[in-house]
Amino acid sequence: MYLGIDLGTSGIKAVLVDDSQTVLASHTVALDVSRPHPGWSEQAPEDWWQGTLRALDALTASHPSEMGAVRGVGLSGQMHGAVLLDAAGMPLRPAILWNDTRCEEECLALEDAWPDLRSVTGNVAMPGFTAPKLVWVRRHEPEIFAHTAHVLLPKAYVRYRLTGEMIEEMSDAAGTLWLDVGARAWSEAGLAACGMTLGQMPRLVEGSAPAGRLTPELTRRWGMTAAPVLAGGAGDNAAGAVGLGAIRPGSAFVSLGTSGVLWATTDRFRPNPDATVHAFCHALPGLWHQMGVTLSAAASLAWWSGIAREKEGALLQALPPIPSAPSDVTFLPYLSGERTPHNDGAIRGGFLGLSHDTTRDSLTQAVLEGVAFSFRDCLDALRSAGTTMTEADVIGGGSRSATWIAILASVLGITLHRLADGETGGAFGAARLGRLAVTGEDPVAVCTPPRRIEAIAPVPALQAAYEERLVYYRALYPALRQARRLGH
Ligand code: XUL
Repeated sequence: MYLGIDLGTSGIKAVLVDDSQTVLASHTVALDVSRPHPGWSEQAPEDWWQGTLRALDALTASHPSEMGAVRGVGLSGQMHGAVLLDAAGMPLRPAILWNDTRCEEECLALEDAWPDLRSVTGNVAMPGFTAPKLVWVRRHEPEIFAHTAHVLLPKAYVRYRLTGEMIEEMSDAAGTLWLDVGARAWSEAGLAACGMTLGQMPRLVEGSAPAGRLTPELTRRWGMTAAPVLAGGAGDNAAGAVGLGAIRPGSAFVSLGTSGVLWATTDRFRPNPDATVHAFCHALPGLWHQMGVTLSAAASLAWWSGIAREKEGALLQALPPIPSAPSDVTFLPYLSGERTPHNDGAIRGGFLGLSHDTTRDSLTQAVLEGVAFSFRDCLDALRSAGTTMTEADVIGGGSRSATWIAILASVLGITLHRLADGETGGAFGAARLGRLAVTGEDPVAVCTPPRRIEAIAPVPALQAAYEERLVYYRALYPALRQARRLGH
């Protein structure tokens, strides 16, 4: 029996998976994000820990004998967040999250201080990543910076509470900008550029390698016969990839979660920072990946549902399964800035083309299309980094909408696959890593792909109409940026 724990932004999900890889039970505890200033996004590490306890207590109450038999635990987590701990291991401030955009200036300062940043990390400095957040704390909260004895990513903090050990794995470590991604080792030069040292960083392992054991106290609390082994685990996207069996060079998927990710597995470190492609380690040894990231994917629909005062499901239901033409309105999904391809934390979104004929449904369709155009920007960025993609699986909350997938397939011009429910997501992938850490099996035997239940191909007429609209969509960002410069 194996446990997977996914520390997401909107909730913590724990799943129990048996030896035949069936998900027996899952429990989710919701989390809130605090936005104390425009562009800020924070969570208290203690809330993650209390949520983890509640999720595992609930699984123990509903499935006591299965919890008792857990041998391996895998962790998946929201990437990039900065957790600052003092020498006693206590959080010094709320964690600064992946979608926080406060440290634009610090990104420029960091690239100046470390000219090799792009070649070593394979990435451009973006406000979402961890290193510029520490530069921000150093500048704006020097007292806290001075007391920072350890810096952990979100899931490593949960591991610390579960095991007492500070350990991180490659896929998440790659998102800090302190990792030499090709060499899979911390870069002392990168740390030094932030006024930090190796001593502040956790030990590194591969995602499928053992990384601590559950403490005796928690082993008793959850009625386990022996203390389970924790695996290194993975950043949430890499964990999703392990869950999907995307472990062969060329495997691709679209994740329509809070953020949107277009993923391609690669057999070596293949960066293209100038196109804002994220080039990170995979969670398995000897593999890397590329990602294009759009910051507000399902988050855009959630935002629109709040404004429209209507449930997301009802908004989607009102649309045809395949639109006959693009909406009259164009939506720019830059609600919290954008990563790929703009790397612009300050830009904000918009609806363009409003008229007296605009309806709620045309705005809903525009939101889905705007996110799809943003994914298209990601696809073209990955192509410029040498990736060929003709098909991809779709995962994440947004993949439940047939309309959204149809729009996405026509905008991307590739075939998308819907998958059988249940065995996807970061928590499932994390449970697989938990298993690999215990059994040492061949990952290819364990990380099999889920059943594809439907192939959605582009609709030629719609694809042509979207190609035309894409030109308009792409003209809007530079215009908006220029307008911001003129005064806003
Ligand atoms: C990836 C990224 C997001 C978070 C969401 O670079 O920032 O996908 O991992 O949890």
